[in-house]
Amino acid sequence: MLDKDPRQIRRMFASVSHRYDIANRVLSMRFDVAWRKRVASQLLPAAGGLVLDLAAGTGDLTVDLERFGRHRVVSADFTFEMLAHGREKLRNRAPGSIQVTADALALPFRSAAFDGVSVAFGVRNFQDPGHGLREIRRVLRSGGRLGVLEFSKPRQPLRFFYGLYSRHILPAVGGLITGTRSPYEYLPASVQAFPEGAAFLDLMRDAGFKNSTAARLSGGIVTFYRGEA
Ligand SMILES: C[S@@+](CC[C@H](N)C(=O)[O-])C[C@H]1O[C@@H](n2cnc3c(N)ncnc32)[C@H](O)[C@@H]1O
Repeated sequence: MLDKDPRQIRRMFASVSHRYDIANRVLSMRFDVAWRKRVASQLLPAAGGLVLDLAAGTGDLTVDLERFGRHRVVSADFTFEMLAHGREKLRNRAPGSIQVTADALALPFRSAAFDGVSVAFGVRNFQDPGHGLREIRRVLRSGGRLGVLEFSKPRQPLRFFYGLYSRHILPAVGGLITGTRSPYEYLPASVQAFPEGAAFLDLMRDAGFKNSTAARLSGGIVTFYRGEA
């Protein structure tokens, strides 16, 4: 059973926060940049919405939401160190955004406060993803949009090669870049354990989302889930 104790998760992200961005670029071969742009430009039908970028980390999606989506963004995460390492970036590239330390399972926002919520590579780490989705639904106004980007398991034959990559190369390279190997061993294990595809759409429905869809990107390495509150 994978340990998703919130204190452990925070400690893990804090330990890689200083080199998180560069590790992402290298390990995804920059595909992560295109994945986030897609979420930023497709989350809401019109520009100018108030968006909560949840589990925002160092804020790469926050930047895209402001630059490409032209939204006002609250960038929230429960690991202070991740937010701190993104602060300079947001000051320069998303000056309209604000950072908030917040736990996705107990959001410090009033109900129906946001037009949109985005979560990139965060839901998988929530101790209880269903609880997180209900909390997100609560802070979305009726008709507001949720966009979730999360790793998934590609189909064969890519699954075989991606499996080798994520079990062997990813922990070795991630460890070299950040000096800590264990977060990059946790990553493939957490992807294996994540209720992806139809199972995640069920969780979204149970949390009160409608018209939910799942689009597999890059051969299914990542899935972009969307839903309406
Ligand atoms: C893989 S990083 C993703 C960061 C960013 N969204 C990105 O696309 O690079 C996952 C982030 O989720 C945050 N996180 C995990 N569980 C959380 C929770 N319950 N509440 C808030 N943030 C959480 C972690 O602190 C970490 O910064």
